[in-house]
Amino acid sequence: MKSGMDLATLVLRWQRTHGRHDLPWQGTQDPYRVWLSEIMLQQTQVATVRDYYARFLRRFPDVAALALAHQDEVLALWSGLGYYSRARNLHACAQQVVSDHGGAFPRSAHELQTLPGIGRSTAAAIASICFGERVAILDGNVKRVLTRLLGFGADLADSASERALWERATELLPTRDLARAMPIYTQGVMDLGATVCTSRNPHCTACPLIGCCVAHQQGAHERYPVKTRRLKRSSESLWLLWAQTPDGAVWLSQRPTPGVWAGLYCLPLFDSREALETALPARQRAALHDLPVVKHVLTHKDLHLHPVRLQLKSSSRLQTEGQWFEPGQWPQLGLPAPVRKLLSG
Ligand code: ADE
Repeated sequence: MKSGMDLATLVLRWQRTHGRHDLPWQGTQDPYRVWLSEIMLQQTQVATVRDYYARFLRRFPDVAALALAHQDEVLALWSGLGYYSRARNLHACAQQVVSDHGGAFPRSAHELQTLPGIGRSTAAAIASICFGERVAILDGNVKRVLTRLLGFGADLADSASERALWERATELLPTRDLARAMPIYTQGVMDLGATVCTSRNPHCTACPLIGCCVAHQQGAHERYPVKTRRLKRSSESLWLLWAQTPDGAVWLSQRPTPGVWAGLYCLPLFDSREALETALPARQRAALHDLPVVKHVLTHKDLHLHPVRLQLKSSSRLQTEGQWFEPGQWPQLGLPAPVRKLLSG
């Protein structure tokens, strides 16, 4: 190892001088805030999370406030961040912290992991940042950093290989002054993954670990990480019934769980235009008006959304499940982003 300095020390020094220090969730060891940021940052970019994080904290300043909220309001504040199971788990987790832990987050990664929506890496992030526990995080970014550093070529689709990488990650953690070192180290490996050891064109000359990086010695950063099992993307077409009353109210119903947009309020969805027509009486069918298809990309699926407009002369109930919502009510509902966009024109 470079001039006798261990890897953890190199990461700590680098984080202090070159890591990120001005993110809104830094400078706190409040587990509520750290937890919230970690959940929002799963699958979502820092730039997007910033505003959502601030708004969410203004409305729910602590775990007790969140636990008391209605799920609809939590989903509404989450609307546009995607992966709504995160929001449902977030709410359930807050309620469990209040009911089972007296309103204080447990202090160990082991116990944190028993809560809804908190996996091994998120538990480790919270426990190391807030409580200085010596536990390793291993999210997608950190896997890339460590597999390159170690030249770890085993397939991470294989759970035994993943376990082995967790062990290596744990061995590399700081061993001294943990209360001070662990929060910085955890942030440091995240920052390295996000700003230096990027998946394409990594900035190796800016990396504190260049002297001990196996992938760099091999000149082959693109070899790591190895993960074979790739989820195949699929695509699906959906027809959306956009029924509107003369005063602008729209017919919405809550999506079932599980499924696309579970728990969110949405225009009635159908698998085909025929299925949509079947849900309406003949005189309404004749008044349908097709709008251009909107493509919406989910993690594992491309959705082709076919909005079909129905301008009504009265606000009688439709045959499908749901109810009328005035435009003034939409902002308080959790609406899928493409539906919100469609309705607001
Ligand atoms: N991604 C996940 N956790 C993060 C954090 N604490 N800071 C920046 N990006 C992150």
